[in-house]
Amino acid sequence: MNGKEIIAVVGSGTMGNGIAHISALSGYSVYLVDINNEFLDKAMSIISKNLQKQVDKGVISESKKNSALDSINTTIDISNIKGADLVIEAAPENQDIKNKIFSELDSICKPDTILASNTSSISITELSTKTNRPDKIIGMHFMNPVPIMKLVEIINGDKTSKETKNKIITFANNMGKIPVECNDYPGFVSNRILMPMIIMIFFTILAITLEIFVSEFLFLRRLFVPYCTSLLKTQKSIKIQTPKIILGIYISVNSNSSSLFIYFTPP
Ligand SMILES: NC(=O)c1ccc[n+]([C@@H]2O[C@H](COP(=O)([O-])OP(=O)(O)OC[C@H]3O[C@@H](n4cnc5c(N)ncnc54)[C@H](O)[C@@H]3O)[C@@H](O)[C@H]2O)c1
Repeated sequence: MNGKEIIAVVGSGTMGNGIAHISALSGYSVYLVDINNEFLDKAMSIISKNLQKQVDKGVISESKKNSALDSINTTIDISNIKGADLVIEAAPENQDIKNKIFSELDSICKPDTILASNTSSISITELSTKTNRPDKIIGMHFMNPVPIMKLVEIINGDKTSKETKNKIITFANNMGKIPVECNDYPGFVSNRILMPMIIMIFFTILAITLEIFVSEFLFLRRLFVPYCTSLLKTQKSIKIQTPKIILGIYISVNSNSSSLFIYFTPP
């Protein structure tokens, strides 16, 4: 890849517009595809705003911003990308949608076009079975926000060729990204680490909340048991008189939860 090739991005949402942004900024000619023009207009306005932020920060020049914007063509007709050298699919994370797109791309694109998916979790090998070019199917998992995050996971399907992988690594490097190669396992690398961490955080918060609940329960028990015992001893009926009211306020606060208990004085 030498920066003159054509990159097509299918899906212009959060990830797609970021991928189109960096592809255009890296000198590639870009096609951005979506299912309607409203989504494409929105994507172009986000790309334009994000490029302007880079100009304001002195990261790129005004002329680089303008040439990047000029090099992005939008279309709702996927057959317009038949001349692309690389297609990066960034449609919703849905197996049926991606299967359909890959099978369509296979019939539209040149035989040597590489078809990459930005999927976070769908099997690259499974997607490759929807095409007649399994050696040219690969995962390119960009991180959000794409213009800022450096890491790109490069996922080899069972039949991805070495040549395809090397071209994709060059492409990622040209975009200023850091490619990390991995095989087609559930969650690849980043999500395989991230998901257990999220589950651990959930159980830690649950444990802290339970601990607070138990300690508050014990506090109330310490307060009310002697009160009820003394009532029984004096054979008085339980009625709460007018405001002698608030005996105490117990506030338990920690970083995740807070609770407030107000209890009443014995008559
Ligand atoms: N959002 C993230 O943080 C993130 C990070 C890494 C990877 N991903 C992956 O990137 C992919 C896209 O995620 P996203 O957050 O950008 O989704 P999104 O919902 O923001 O965008 C998806 C876009 O694809 C379009 N689309 C739907 N069907 C289409 C079709 N047949 N042809 C062309 N366009 C179509 C939708 O109209 C929409 O604009 C998913 O596979 C997701 O798992 C997302």
